[in-house]
Amino acid sequence: MNDALGRPLRDLRISVTDRCNLRCVYCMPKAVFGRDFVFLERDQLLTFEEIARVVRVMSAAGAHKVRLTGGEPLLRRDLPALVSMLSAVPGIGDLAMTTNGALLTREMAKSLAAAGLRRITISVDSLDDDVFRRVNDVDFPLARVLAAIDAAKEAGLMPIKIDMVVVRGLNESSIVGVARHFRETGHIVRFIEYMDVGNTNGWRMEDVVSGAEMRDAIGREWPLVPAEPNYFGEVAQRWCYADGAGEIGIITSVTQPFCGSCTRARLSAAGELYTCLFAGKGRDLRSLLRNGSTDAEISAAIGAVWSARDDRYSEIRSAATAGLKKVEMSHIGG
Ligand code: GTP
Ligand code: 5AD
Ligand code: SF4
Ligand code: SF4
Repeated sequence: MNDALGRPLRDLRISVTDRCNLRCVYCMPKAVFGRDFVFLERDQLLTFEEIARVVRVMSAAGAHKVRLTGGEPLLRRDLPALVSMLSAVPGIGDLAMTTNGALLTREMAKSLAAAGLRRITISVDSLDDDVFRRVNDVDFPLARVLAAIDAAKEAGLMPIKIDMVVVRGLNESSIVGVARHFRETGHIVRFIEYMDVGNTNGWRMEDVVSGAEMRDAIGREWPLVPAEPNYFGEVAQRWCYADGAGEIGIITSVTQPFCGSCTRARLSAAGELYTCLFAGKGRDLRSLLRNGSTDAEISAAIGAVWSARDDRYSEIRSAATAGLKKVEMSHIGG
């Protein structure tokens, strides 16, 4: 099943909740996501059964990679139950999750692995505790997230990926420290350009630290050599430490967009299907799931959306696109 630009549907990213226990300034600024913010109600969220049904239909249409996200996915009660339902879907070869780690205890990591989670990505925006707390904006301590990384390792969710979003003037001074900490651990840090997702984070082009700049900062300390992508359309550019201490990834959605190979669909916690991270609205699948539609009808609806898809926001980002209404990252899923 190809879209209007010839791109197949391969990955499904599922947001299981729009809530988060952190307020990272680049994602859920407190001024917007404060006490008065109205999150989805429980009956608006897809149930685990509904999510699994969408995954079965998508898998039959060619998707083979699933990533659970949020908000913070571990805020959803009994997430391992969803993981086991999804790992039983035929055709899903890769099942991963992106989390901030705050709720990833050793027990949780073990249950997730036992339920069939293959891989995990944990966000670490600095190794300086003060900066870390300033970025998450709820004074959450770094040590707890480092403990979560150890828990994931113990549970065998390896290799672990570490996401660091770099924002100028906020945590750019932490780039080398994060690289240093995770060298030789087998964990793969991905340094991510700050993106203009949604309309609330106050993004400005001046605040973007380019992937080239990040790579130079790291390469000055430890020479890097480029590595081949693991698979077609891999978002991160891989670089290996020349001294054999492991690899890093650089994600340059702003300075070197990768829409040409974008095979990702996104399912929001409310059951809308989005075909771009920067989309304004999605196709409501929840009503189909709840009105007695058959799998064939749901599949046809997804097929219609995908075949009409011509999104390539990052490639056409400009003054003209700046004013567009875009869905928030916490709603659509990172
Ligand atoms: P692997 O399967 O481990 O290679 O991970 P992935 O390539 O699916 O990457 P991941 O889901 O960890 O995404 C890392 C970050 O890349 C996200 O948090 C986003 O910041 C960015 N990203 C991922 N997908 C897209 C996309 O479709 N468009 C844009 N613009 N950015 C993306
Ligand atoms: N720019 C880039 N990445 C972002 N994320 C959230 N907001 C942004 C943004 N504005 C990503 C980070 C985080 C994941 C959950 O979502 O990678 O680790
Ligand atoms: Fe929460 Fe992740 Fe967004 Fe931070 S980046 S506010 S941890 S969803
Ligand atoms: Fe895909 Fe949209 Fe990201 Fe481009 S901007 S890579 S089309 S999600």
